[in-house]
Amino acid sequence: MTLPGPAATGVAVVGWGVALPDATVTNADLEARLDTSDRWITERTGIRERRVGGTTGELATAAARQALVAAEASSGSVELMVLATSTPDQQLPATASAVQDALGLGCGAFDVNAACSGFVYALVAGAGMAAMGARRVLVVGADVMSRVTDQQDRSTAVLFGDGAGAVVLDAVEGPGQLLGWDLGSDGSLRHLLQADVGGYVRMEGKEVFRRAVRVMIDSSEAALARAGLSADDVDLLVPHQANTRIIEAACERLGIPMARTASVLDRTGNTSAASIPLALGDAAAAGRLSKGDIVLLVGFGAGMTWASAVLRWGP
Ligand code: UT7
Repeated sequence: MTLPGPAATGVAVVGWGVALPDATVTNADLEARLDTSDRWITERTGIRERRVGGTTGELATAAARQALVAAEASSGSVELMVLATSTPDQQLPATASAVQDALGLGCGAFDVNAACSGFVYALVAGAGMAAMGARRVLVVGADVMSRVTDQQDRSTAVLFGDGAGAVVLDAVEGPGQLLGWDLGSDGSLRHLLQADVGGYVRMEGKEVFRRAVRVMIDSSEAALARAGLSADDVDLLVPHQANTRIIEAACERLGIPMARTASVLDRTGNTSAASIPLALGDAAAAGRLSKGDIVLLVGFGAGMTWASAVLRWGP
């Protein structure tokens, strides 16, 4: 599904924030209790450590609070909050309700579950609501994957971590910063990566890997085409942080050098809906984003879902 054309009301990213739990689990920690090795994890995934702990609501609140401070935005000025998560703290209500209460927001708030694609889904949904009249939208991606990971299963325990990231979107006249997007889903592939209610993540890793590379390329190209741009125009690629080899394979096929990608994977592991805003926030904090830069966000995950967004950075 793609945007029909430039909207009369666009959005601008006016603030962002990130949150990670304090506790670190290194590859050496995992090596000590599982039949795995630092070498296997590093070579096969690119992950060196991950952060674990807290609740989805706590992490989301911390990231959102930081984003509001950065945007110099009061709680009362937020007119909508969208929280992407597949690890809600409760079956109901939505974790967005707890975050809204903690932040003292007086607006509508809801969860979106598109797994690791969730943040980009929420971003596009937020931009759509801005086009419909919401003047300020808070978009958050937060997951506590450690809670749904079997810590005795080496095939998943080494991969996942916890975290949150958030952006504040302001409605602006004209097309704004979101130049193009692409959201997709193929529910016939939902068996590849799933967790029952109250259960642990089960994944057919190799098949997810193979399909992830393909959908990253196709979705990136669809969003770029909608924006009237090509991969050559991308100044910074912010991919879902699941596996360095997936990112390398997609970059090679897209013709985007790895030096132009944002990465926090080595420090965070796969944090699902938090991974893209964590990598975006890290790149911004490192001064890797300048006014006018073309930033391509691309996610993929359980569903199978995929999602891309092309942003022109800066006011
Ligand atoms: O965000 C959601 C999307 N998820 C993903 O993007 C994950 C996509 N998949 C992947 O990233 C990779 O498939 C994995 C990292 C999960 C696995 O890497 P792989 O290169 O596909 O390994 P594999 O599953 O084919 O396993 C190769 C070997 C097997 O041993 P044998 O059968 O060759 O003897 C596994 O049992 O590696 C073994 N293995 C491990 N060895 C040490 C699997 N996990 C581990 C481990 N440590 N943690």
